[in-house]
Amino acid sequence: RQVEAEVVAFSVPSYACQRRTTLENHNTVLTDALSLLAENAELSDEDGRGVAFRRAAAVLRSLPGPVTDMKQLRGLPCLGEHSLRVIKDILEDGASSEVESTKQSERFKSLKVLTGIFGVGSRTADRWIREGIHTLQQLRDSGQSLNRAQQAGLEHYDDLNRPLTVAEAEAIGEIVERAVVSVLPGAQITLTGGFRRGKLTGHDVDFLITHPDEGREEGLMSKVVSWLESQGFLLYQKTTRNSYLESKDGPARPPANMDRFERCFSIFKLIKEERQGTEQPENGERNPNPAEDTLSVGARSGSQTDQNTPPQSQIPADEQRRRVSGEDGGQEETKPAVHKPWRAVRVDLVVSPISQFAFALLGWTGSKLFERELRRWAGHEKAMSLSSHALYDNTQSRYLRATSEEEIFAHLGLEFIPPSERNA
Ligand code: GTP
Ligand code: MN
Ligand code: MN
Repeated sequence: RQVEAEVVAFSVPSYACQRRTTLENHNTVLTDALSLLAENAELSDEDGRGVAFRRAAAVLRSLPGPVTDMKQLRGLPCLGEHSLRVIKDILEDGASSEVESTKQSERFKSLKVLTGIFGVGSRTADRWIREGIHTLQQLRDSGQSLNRAQQAGLEHYDDLNRPLTVAEAEAIGEIVERAVVSVLPGAQITLTGGFRRGKLTGHDVDFLITHPDEGREEGLMSKVVSWLESQGFLLYQKTTRNSYLESKDGPARPPANMDRFERCFSIFKLIKEERQGTEQPENGERNPNPAEDTLSVGARSGSQTDQNTPPQSQIPADEQRRRVSGEDGGQEETKPAVHKPWRAVRVDLVVSPISQFAFALLGWTGSKLFERELRRWAGHEKAMSLSSHALYDNTQSRYLRATSEEEIFAHLGLEFIPPSERNA
């Protein structure tokens, strides 16, 4: 007996870490809408709602084709009443009034602009808005006291809000590599974060550093940072012990060696490549800031042969003249951005002992939702606690060792999902 036109419902497992989510997204209109609501919830300090929208968006992102009919969504996990209403509105009317009005709202726009400043979270932005500060200019004029991160964030606002390319990530990788091998030969650097997942753009570049001999990595971060600083590559850095006791979703039991785990939030000064041979009379009257000339000496100074050399790969560290005047004093704000021969780039560095490397690699590759779902799976389905340091089995009361991501997935009873399919 023939039924009317049959609609085949999609079917996906409930946890994002059970799904393969590539960068191919057949439902961008829907996922953009839900992501915007998630962002708005997060900016309003409603993390629970934020996660619900993120999970709903991730389910749609994992579907093998576009959603055209609500019936296709029957039985799908993580789609709450609210998300379903938004999807329905978009399928029926082409837009969701809630999404559109959120997008237009002054509060949302101000929160986005202000939290777009590196070092500014939703609470700070909210406080400023209540004090009548909605724009960068109002913030600059307000006399608000800014911490070092926020000062750097404001100064390099445009650069830090412009997506990074793979080429820029690679150029940063060469610099980090040079720094690390200079201070500890044999140390290993791995690209993590979105670029490891195959993303073509990113908001920062993430690296994990280790050494095959346990313990050799101790004290490495401060040496790497000193080297980078001495070469004039750092516009800002803050190095912290990774005290994941402080983090909200850290596991119950920290491993004994947690205090060796360090991270550095930084802003790099990356010399732009495409300047090569395009502009300039050689000797920069054009450039009023001698510090810039000094740093880029390898890339732009005099000789013809220099012109063929890509700036990031070539400047051996020692040949580079040291920057004498460290700061750029905000002068670039008055210069047109096009002429600035460098850009600011957010870089995250993490140092892990080799015994925790697999956990750190898995934990820093993301996506954020994939990580959250891995931890939820571990806790709810396996009675285990997963962190970027270790996996603890609460039933056996012991840590489970792993030297690869594959082993961790196996411990968790999950099929291995490669980085390129963790784009939940
Ligand atoms: P873009 O940088 O926006 O391109 O995406 P991304 O996926 O690289 O995001 P991000 O650099 O913010 O984070 C990369 C990974 O590091 C994600 O898996 C995060 O969960 C993880 N991460 C970020 N901050 C922390 C932290 O403070 N502690 C731990 N353990 N992990 C973090
Ligand atoms: Mn990243
Ligand atoms: Mn990062």
